[in-house]
Amino acid sequence: MLRIFVILALASVIHSEEEIMKNLTTVTWAHAVNNKTYLEAALASEVSMLEADIVLGHVKGKDGPPIPVMAHPPATTSDLTLADFLSAVSQFNNVNSKQKGVKLDFKSIDAFEKAQDHIAPFLKPDITFPIWLNADILPGPVDAETKPVDPEKFLSLGSKHKRAVLSVGWTTQYGGNITEGEYSRDQIGSMLRMLNEHHINQTVTFPVRAGLASNSQPVILDLLRETGYLNSSITVWSSEGDAVEVDRLRALLLTVGLERTYLDVPQELAARLRLPPPDTKTKH
Ligand SMILES: *[C@@H]1O[C@H](CO)[C@@H](O)[C@H](O)[C@H]1NC(C)=O
Ligand SMILES: *[C@@H]1O[C@H](CO)[C@@H](O)[C@H](O)[C@H]1NC(C)=O
Ligand SMILES: *[C@@H]1O[C@H](CO)[C@@H](O)[C@H](O)[C@H]1NC(C)=O
Ligand SMILES: *[C@@H]1O[C@H](CO)[C@@H](O)[C@H](O)[C@H]1NC(C)=O
Ligand SMILES: *[C@@H]1O[C@H](CO)[C@@H](O)[C@H](O)[C@H]1NC(C)=O
Repeated sequence: MLRIFVILALASVIHSEEEIMKNLTTVTWAHAVNNKTYLEAALASEVSMLEADIVLGHVKGKDGPPIPVMAHPPATTSDLTLADFLSAVSQFNNVNSKQKGVKLDFKSIDAFEKAQDHIAPFLKPDITFPIWLNADILPGPVDAETKPVDPEKFLSLGSKHKRAVLSVGWTTQYGGNITEGEYSRDQIGSMLRMLNEHHINQTVTFPVRAGLASNSQPVILDLLRETGYLNSSITVWSSEGDAVEVDRLRALLLTVGLERTYLDVPQELAARLRLPPPDTKTKH
């Protein structure tokens, strides 16, 4: 009798831990971790993923050929190189049981090409902290004018790092007086074609902008179905001040499933989503 009870209790513990592991919306984010001070603060915090931007540039006050540094365009200087950023995170993870992951947002193909030798050592199989290689590789809504990062080069180089998660998305133009828009079937189709053409065979996540993604449920479901073999997910992000239909976004998240949705939106929006608590089992 007692034994059965213990086994049942154990089973329920394991079950609930799995549930938590699979609720990707519990993953928390620090943004623009592009300087030493903020990197130290982010490493000391409870945040689980550090998002940072990489451009080709210089350490302030130094010259020589351009190198990958942590900065967001139009800035091209920083007090932190990509190499130092990765060493610091890796050292932290070596001595802490709760590892922090990184999402490296490459702002140009040059920065990504020049970053290869710096990222490779941290993508060997014996290193385990999550590394996401992110870029906007295709033009997206609403008639976005930002030039995407070269998709062919990004995928050929990215696919050499099997341990990395490829985080590949579309440029966007949204916010301000642009309050409506959606991802088109063509834009989704181009992404699928790119992944196929480059024989991508590693975990993939698609960053999608909340206000646009909430209007695009059918095509996002198609995208995830077609890439299920890549354990694909979406990473829903939003800028401060974006117009977002909260009910529609909530419906998208719950339809896709919290086990396939990273949520990287301002706290105020996250709170308004009122995601269901773990104990209310959704029926399948
Ligand atoms: C460091 O980065 C943080 C986050 O991006 C930013 O708020 C802060 O102003 C930066 N500090 C310096 C000295 O650039
Ligand atoms: C949106 O705002 C920009 C300037 O902020 C302006 O140039 C543009 O004409 C506006 N577009 C519409 C559709 O109102
Ligand atoms: C994908 O990678 C796995 C190992 O990670 C391998 O077993 C499988 O054959 C690969 N599939 C293709 C289509 O390359
Ligand atoms: C998907 O996840 C399974 C189970 O964890 C793993 O064996 C497989 O290698 C993963 N495939 C990709 C492409 O990430
Ligand atoms: C998932 O995590 C979010 C964020 O911590 C939380 O609000 C929500 O209740 C959780 N839901 C489930 C089903 O685990």
